[in-house]
Amino acid sequence: MTDSTREAGPYPIRTATAETVEAFTAPLLAAFAFVEDPADQETRTWEPDRIIAALDGERPVATAGAFSFRLGVPGGEAAAAGVTLVGVNPAYRRRGILRSMMRHQLDDVHARGEALAILWASEGAIYQRFGYGLATLSGSFEIARERAAFVRPTPPEGIVRLVDLEEAMGIFPSLYDRVRIQVPGMVARSETWWRSVTLHDTDRARGESGIKFLAVYEAGGEVEGTAIYRVKPDWDERGPKGRLSAIEVIASTPRATRDLWAWLLGVDLVARVAAVRTPVPHPLQLLLAEPRRLGFTVGDGIWLRVVDVPAALAARTYGRPGALVLEIRDAFCPWNAGRWRLVAGEDGHAVAERTDAPPDVTLDAADLGATYLGTFRFSELARVGRVVEGTPGALARADALFAADRAPWCSTMF
Ligand SMILES: CC(C)(COP(=O)(O)OP(=O)(O)OC[C@H]1O[C@@H](n2cnc3c(N)ncnc32)[C@H](O)[C@@H]1OP(=O)(O)O)[C@@H](O)C(=O)NCCC(=O)NCCS
Repeated sequence: MTDSTREAGPYPIRTATAETVEAFTAPLLAAFAFVEDPADQETRTWEPDRIIAALDGERPVATAGAFSFRLGVPGGEAAAAGVTLVGVNPAYRRRGILRSMMRHQLDDVHARGEALAILWASEGAIYQRFGYGLATLSGSFEIARERAAFVRPTPPEGIVRLVDLEEAMGIFPSLYDRVRIQVPGMVARSETWWRSVTLHDTDRARGESGIKFLAVYEAGGEVEGTAIYRVKPDWDERGPKGRLSAIEVIASTPRATRDLWAWLLGVDLVARVAAVRTPVPHPLQLLLAEPRRLGFTVGDGIWLRVVDVPAALAARTYGRPGALVLEIRDAFCPWNAGRWRLVAGEDGHAVAERTDAPPDVTLDAADLGATYLGTFRFSELARVGRVVEGTPGALARADALFAADRAPWCSTMF
């Protein structure tokens, strides 16, 4: 189907080009009350041929985009569309424009052969109707530094040093990739992404949260950890009361985890240390003497939609050999609907094929999204009435098959 035949009621959908991308994303200003500052460079990572707009006449009134990601899944990785830039001009909302953009986008993701789509939702209610399930959890905390003593204080085994952007470019990506392949939910980052987004500092963010620091942890002559954080200086009559915001802490060894957090909690002139988009559970819950002082909060991380059931099921590995018949309800992507027999072999790899056999478990596409990376178990979804067990013991088998070694975590905002 060509763009010109895709009509969103009175608002046809078109794909951007390098020339039109700025105009096509203009509706975001009204939708988010936010302007992208060209100096922020994040726009450099956009893929114009994955950005669409709904037009009223010639004027873009809604937009949606996607990144071409590789997403870590248990035992491997899979092509995933990273959905982003979704916004409808408030003057045009609740007319079905989002729905038509989601239709267009998921058809496109399917045609590109990407098995998965993922996103961060501004509001979870928006995307579940389109088959997105809650696929990772995301933590946040803020702790007073004087309440952050470790339960087993240990002298550091390595050193932390601050580096500039150029040196960081030679260190951070490779350490991240070493950890990424073990953690479902992490996305591969291009060099442009590292330079223009992850390690890049912006005037806006500096104003809000302070300067971005890049720290490297080395022990035994090897890089074992990295930390990206901001420090917002602040003072009053009683003295310093700065705030440190940890953006991303990556550690490849237990001592790197321990020493990097001890270091972040030890930065002078800081009264409070905060972090968002953290793994759940968080290492500090085990390292601190008083973990309750973190005020640790758990929220939704990324939402995942299985766009191609057999490809997605074959992309990950499974905790043990076994077979399972899944009956999937999927009104929005009907090519997925029906019964699939998943057969996992001794090596953990699996194939999924259509079958007429009676279902072991019956679930919606969004429920498969919630179980796919291993964050939620089938039995947990069954206990709230979202998944139905068809044959005795099937939930336990499904749980064992889909279990992930590591808690899924996505630290990349997109
Ligand atoms: C959220 C937003 C994209 C919805 O766009 P829209 O064109 O008004 O949505 P539609 O008219 O296509 O609605 C599709 C369905 O989603 C529902 N819906 C839309 N916005 C919703 C919201 N914020 N919460 C819950 N449901 C919502 C509609 O009721 C409709 O339901 P139905 O299919 O059962 O009738 C738009 O309001 C917006 O841009 N908001 C601000 C920016 C934002 O939050 N973007 C999302 C970034 S992750």
